Amino acid sequence: MRAFAIAALPVLAFAAALPLAQRAQAQAGKSGQELFAERCAACHVEGGFGTRVLSRRVPEGQAELEKRETLPAALTIAVVRRGIGSMPQIREAELSDADLQAIANYLEKRL
Ligand code: HEC
Repeated sequence: MRAFAIAALPVLAFAAALPLAQRAQAQAGKSGQELFAERCAACHVEGGFGTRVLSRRVPEGQAELEKRETLPAALTIAVVRRGIGSMPQIREAELSDADLQAIANYLEKRL
């Protein structure tokens, strides 16, 4: 038992050292960019519903999420889980926490 626990230690240490983004991606099997394309792009590309609504209230050039200069992952996660204005909320049953984290990391990394 003890030998097993000791043998497992390096594996655990390695898993803990993996950045959150990588772990989220590993679980989801798809990159944040791919997941964004599947789940968000319908509304959040140029000319999309989300982009058009956002262009009324965010600075010019910031309405398209993939071109946003600042989009903290925590904001993306909160907006997706709660919904905002005319964007419906997306629950965990439809989009897992790991997939949402991967999307949020992808959007934040464009800072
Ligand atoms: C059915 C269309 C639709 C889909 C699908 C959709 N959104 Fe949205 N989203 C919107 C609309 C519309 C707004 C603007 C809401 C408002 O201000 O009234 C918005 C706003 C946002 C905002 C707020 C930005 C800000 O500056 O306040 C974020 C972040 C966001 N969406 C992320 C996402 C992500 C991530 C996904 C995919 C998981 C997604 N959305 C899927 C329609 C959509």
